[in-house]
Amino acid sequence: MEISAIGLAVTVAAAGGGGSFEISTAGIAIGAVLTVGAAVLHFVKGTAWGPTEDITQNVLEHRAKSVPETDFPEPMNRAIGGGGGAVAVGGGDAGGELEEGGDEAGGGSSSPADIPEDEIEHYEIEFVKEGETIEVANNEPLLDAGEDEGWDLPYACRQGQCVSCGGKISGDANELIEHDDQQMLDENEMGDGYVLTCVAYPRGEFSIETSETP
Ligand code: FES
Repeated sequence: MEISAIGLAVTVAAAGGGGSFEISTAGIAIGAVLTVGAAVLHFVKGTAWGPTEDITQNVLEHRAKSVPETDFPEPMNRAIGGGGGAVAVGGGDAGGELEEGGDEAGGGSSSPADIPEDEIEHYEIEFVKEGETIEVANNEPLLDAGEDEGWDLPYACRQGQCVSCGGKISGDANELIEHDDQQMLDENEMGDGYVLTCVAYPRGEFSIETSETP
């Protein structure tokens, strides 16, 4: 319709111009042609567009054939496939080991200091240099027992990791002493009677000379 209006306008303009008969005729002709063309275009029925065949299913089937199946990781597992599973299982095993270690630690927690009240025993221990014999419980380190008496006994780490608190007992320390995780004395030295009083719990009666180291 816009083209028709333009043609009509051109026709009117050309006709209204009045300056030349040839121009008016040409304007009318052009206007007529444009008008007819516009009318034809307006009434000619175009070819309706319709969607082509739905190939979605075909595409999906083709893709299913051509793309290998993907293994998605299990929840909480960033690895893909059996390897990841192995890692996860391994982690579980590690956890189990850790738990077992914890149990072992729990076993380790059966420190002499944790002996229950109804299992506590006392031993007569002679502190030679201090000139006294005192009773020391089997859940008390020799160093603590001596300090309870007010004696100024040597020590440093109090964890069995040095020899500052060393002493020598009258007998085999492997039998008469239970060390709580000492890391300094070997079996022979303990056989000679050397102990670390900060972590040495009595398991019998003996005398001890404090401030003695191998
Ligand atoms: S104070 Fe260090 S081992 Fe006893």
